[in-house]
Amino acid sequence: MPPIVDLRSDTLTKPTDGMRRAMANAEVGDDVYGEDPSINALEAEVAEMFGQAAALFVPSGTMGNLVSLRLLCDPGEELVCDADAHIVSYEAGAAAAHGGIQTRTIVADRGLLTPEALAPQLRSPGYHAVATAAVAVEQTHNRGGGAIYPLEQLLQLRALTAAHPARLHCDGARIWNAHVASGVGLEGYGAMFDTMSVCLSKGLGAPVGSVVVLSDAAMAERARDIRHRLGGAMRQAGVLAAAGRYALHHHIDRLAEDHEHARQLAAGIADAAPGVVDPDTVETNMVMLELGEPMPDAARLSQACADDGVLVSSVAPRRVRLVTHLDIDSAGTDRALDVIRRALKV
Ligand SMILES: Cc1ncc(COP(=O)(O)O)c(C=O)c1O
Repeated sequence: MPPIVDLRSDTLTKPTDGMRRAMANAEVGDDVYGEDPSINALEAEVAEMFGQAAALFVPSGTMGNLVSLRLLCDPGEELVCDADAHIVSYEAGAAAAHGGIQTRTIVADRGLLTPEALAPQLRSPGYHAVATAAVAVEQTHNRGGGAIYPLEQLLQLRALTAAHPARLHCDGARIWNAHVASGVGLEGYGAMFDTMSVCLSKGLGAPVGSVVVLSDAAMAERARDIRHRLGGAMRQAGVLAAAGRYALHHHIDRLAEDHEHARQLAAGIADAAPGVVDPDTVETNMVMLELGEPMPDAARLSQACADDGVLVSSVAPRRVRLVTHLDIDSAGTDRALDVIRRALKV
């Protein structure tokens, strides 16, 4: 049996040999004392990449979002985001449980908020009113199939929130994919947001870690306190930061290969089963398959693929998600395509 092709998520990547060597050789210290050179270097490097004032290493994207939202919203204040945002779909209610933050959501095509939809939803302070303190966008959008916010749309959202005023957060777990696919510079994205959470452990292939990017150095001390309170202050975690730095240096440009593999999957599937996917919607490393009748439903398709060594995710009863990544090469892409095409005919 050939090796399994695992398209369930780009979080499944394993550290490469080069990354493991970088981890083994990392200089470390106690980061609670601010003395881990590898973490300090990672934070400085990421802040600079986004042209922002400061950055903070955190264990996960979930904690990155939560630290950011706690900075932007006090308990009882409101965050507006799209209804499919990771923040409200997959973070176990963290913003409510740990931040007392009220979320209000807007249904948005492929998860991308438009200024027209957002404007009437921004609420101002008033008698008994819950004012909108912040708005969150997701770049790229996970449940939106890896969709990219165009820069112009972000500029409009920025202008709208600044005028309200509300602050703007970016769940940038896959901002690297947006950067590579759109050609927009990381500093171009950075300039847009008050806070960002960017992940090292998705397409970049690090085993652990995210970075909170802060537009204002004055937020950094509070961000460290919030992280500590959440149990996210680590000690000699420079071994993890070294993996993240290795990923930044070696794995950003290669995301273009993942995007190409996703396009190949979409084109091949659309050819075999018209209507299941529109290849024009595949902008980065995700492909969403919509399984209308008489196609097998998501559970049956995933099982049929798994029986043939290809793993995919059912994200709704009739929707399957495929995610390409560092551990999927051209041969794996071709094999996955064969298996999925066969399974669609079941
Ligand atoms: C868009 C998005 N944001 C945040 C996260 C959370 O990251 P973590 O799993 O590191 O908490 C994920 C995880 O897949 C994600 O896809």
